[in-house]
Amino acid sequence: TMVEKQGFKHFMLKEIHEQPGVVRASLEAYFNNLGDSNQSPINLGLPESLYADLEQIHIVACGTSWHAALVGKHLIEQLAGISTQVHYASEYRYAPSPLTANTLIVGVTQSGETADTLAALAMEKERRQGKEPKYQARLLGITNRPESSLGHMVPHIISTLAGIEIGVAATKTFIAQLMAFYALALDLAYRRQTVSLDKLVEIINGLRQIPKEIEATLASQESLTEQLAHEFAETQDFIFLGRGINFPIALEGALKLKEISYIHAEGYPAGEMKHGPIALLDAKVPVVAIAVPGSVYEKVISNSQEAKARDSRLIGVTPVKDGEAAEIFNDLLPVSNVDELLSPILAVVPLQLLAYHIAARRGLDVDQPRNLAKSVTVE
Ligand code: G6P
Repeated sequence: TMVEKQGFKHFMLKEIHEQPGVVRASLEAYFNNLGDSNQSPINLGLPESLYADLEQIHIVACGTSWHAALVGKHLIEQLAGISTQVHYASEYRYAPSPLTANTLIVGVTQSGETADTLAALAMEKERRQGKEPKYQARLLGITNRPESSLGHMVPHIISTLAGIEIGVAATKTFIAQLMAFYALALDLAYRRQTVSLDKLVEIINGLRQIPKEIEATLASQESLTEQLAHEFAETQDFIFLGRGINFPIALEGALKLKEISYIHAEGYPAGEMKHGPIALLDAKVPVVAIAVPGSVYEKVISNSQEAKARDSRLIGVTPVKDGEAAEIFNDLLPVSNVDELLSPILAVVPLQLLAYHIAARRGLDVDQPRNLAKSVTVE
């Protein structure tokens, strides 16, 4: 089928704008209409055998999928209390962690064709073969292409519902992977009863508000990020800061910028800045801080203050428009105030737009950046 740009200048921009629809499709597919209290509110169709006596989860992925996995780890550990490791597939395949019992192995790959991710899963499968039952491989794939090589390799799949993505830099497939992880973490929490049903329902109802919140973000950020892009088109280095569940979003914001604008960018957990990156800061290095209310808001604000003291220009992704935030941030990229657990889905959107507009401003080939491929099928 021919996919077209429908009036957008690039596929990437079109795909960013498709995100509310991707979240709606995911909500529809992964969650049941609440009302019948005997029914689980989550509907992933995964068998109990995958979950029984689960002690650990290991996730392997590359690139943007690895960032989604880091958000997934936070959700699974905080909601379901299962110890979770996230590995780069290219590392894990040659240095796997010691064999653990009752472990769910999750491979996350948008394309389902990334060589390193497939190899890491194949290695895991092989080393568990013939072992006693508790060591048997329990494999789950999260992919946008259930018909892919990954689909043939693993017995269980969560299909992400982004539709075909053309832009090399992943946007809507990332949001779709986040939705898959919300569903997986909530499914685990429901089955293990680590979170009350009321709280589960509250989180799911919060997710149901996300599509319109992304729409609002898109509506308000399009011109804001375009203006900022104008000022940063010649900038050489960027630092992205986040903490907790938004640390992976800082990584993703930096990756988007690197991939399509060729500007050097680093994502860092804000509390680690003092251990190195702070030496880079001066008036020429802008800092983008994700500062959303919750467990680490005050901490991110004080880390931002430290950057400001080094003359960095501070850009805040935050719903807070007054108080310290108003004083510290030179520029605001406002997002709606939602439960901290749900905030990554909103916080990533202005970062995608910022990267897009900077690259477009620089006149670069946004959909086909140099040296990159949509899926890397060789090692
Ligand atoms: C390539 C793409 C990235 C993507 C990564 C992993 O490097 O350019 O956008 O995140 O592969 O792809 P996957 O299909 O495994 O998610």
